[in-house]
Amino acid sequence: MAKLWGGRFTKSTNKLVDEYTASISYDQELAKEDIEGSLAHVTMLGECGIVTAEESQTIQDGLHKILDKIEKGEAEFSVDQEDIHMNIERMLIDEIGPVGGKLHTGRSRNDQVATDMHLYMRNKTELLIELIKDVQSALLDKAKANVDTILPGYTHLQRAQPISFAHHLLAYFWMFERDKGRLQDSIKRINILPLGAGALAGTTFPINRRRVAELLDFDDIYPNSMDAVSDRDFVVEALSACSLIMVHLSRLSEEMVLWSSQEFQFIELDDAFCTGSSIMPQKKNPDVSELLRGKTGRVFGHLVGLLTVLKGLPLAYNKDMQEDKEGIFDTVKTITGALQLLAPILETMTVKKDRMRHAVEKDYSNATDIADYLAKKGLPFREAHAITGKMVLYAIEHKRYLLDLELSEYKQFSPLFEEDIFEALLPENVMRARESEGGTAPHQIMKQIELAEEKIGRG
Ligand code: ARG
Repeated sequence: MAKLWGGRFTKSTNKLVDEYTASISYDQELAKEDIEGSLAHVTMLGECGIVTAEESQTIQDGLHKILDKIEKGEAEFSVDQEDIHMNIERMLIDEIGPVGGKLHTGRSRNDQVATDMHLYMRNKTELLIELIKDVQSALLDKAKANVDTILPGYTHLQRAQPISFAHHLLAYFWMFERDKGRLQDSIKRINILPLGAGALAGTTFPINRRRVAELLDFDDIYPNSMDAVSDRDFVVEALSACSLIMVHLSRLSEEMVLWSSQEFQFIELDDAFCTGSSIMPQKKNPDVSELLRGKTGRVFGHLVGLLTVLKGLPLAYNKDMQEDKEGIFDTVKTITGALQLLAPILETMTVKKDRMRHAVEKDYSNATDIADYLAKKGLPFREAHAITGKMVLYAIEHKRYLLDLELSEYKQFSPLFEEDIFEALLPENVMRARESEGGTAPHQIMKQIELAEEKIGRG
């Protein structure tokens, strides 16, 4: 089939070139956005008298028919037509005749593809924000059911201080809240229209870019036509925001893998989200959580990939920029899948409160509270810390925990100890005592929950 740009060529392209340069195998993902952009463009062309009102209408009708075919899966895309833009234009001309060739008046594929990418990013960013909310909602529900559930809190993966399981889950809520904030903020820059930039320098036709912006619901237009067609910052931003989402998903997944292990047994994942082993009949593997963690690599890869594509490019459009697509498409698919799975995984997991409670009894994670006890009685904290350190050593040597020592033993380390030390060291009290704002005391957690409810519009 003849190329739409074939006029100045004396030969047809080498078959390998067609295959190598074509993007249709993946940019058909942009079909709807491409037609949406074209509809707005040709509406404006008609209104500005650049094509007649009748021509504009014929083209719009043709585009709607093509959209219909694409949605029904009846459209056939061809590598000969290189990309989604040329494929649709070819279909349009086949559908309505030569008048279809007027669609591309005052437009270039460079501002067209940039517009498609903006529309795509807007749709997907809005989708991701909704999916993040679902995960936040699941985290919040689990947190609400576990305000009084005590488990060891770790630093360096060593027992540190007892915390509420709700507090631990809510930590992830706030990570996702920031992720949502980043995505929401990026919409400001996504919502700027490149169309009307032409190939790079603008166009000789009396177009009305602001009308197209209005039709496509963009907030503004790019003030510089060269920047308009060269900018992929908004895709990098999306990849970067998505990379952080993956970091958070991965950290949570890692904890779920750890918690569901035989060694921890803090949670049990629902059978529906685990898989078995082909050889070991007893196995129940947290494959989904592992894959959530594992798929982080590809998203980071796509971010670095696009940064690298862009870094050496002279203005304006370069074909290299076609490489902006597969990475972000794959990223959106990866994150969408991950977020859709995480919400039900959280909802269905069993929290083994007894195992968690048991774990905080068998450690020295109330040591800080001994130091705090002494410091509250006037001892400088540094000295209190040193005394407590010696007590921990003493207890370890005698194979006992701090709550197992007698008051007389306590008094050997400091005369400041009284009977109330035993009360202060109970895991519940250790947790309750952290009343500072943002701390793990149930009263503070309730405040957090209230704030969190507001953030996802449930308050
Ligand atoms: N398929 C191209 C891309 O995705 C469309 C823009 C092509 N423009 C051009 N002048 N070759 O970037």
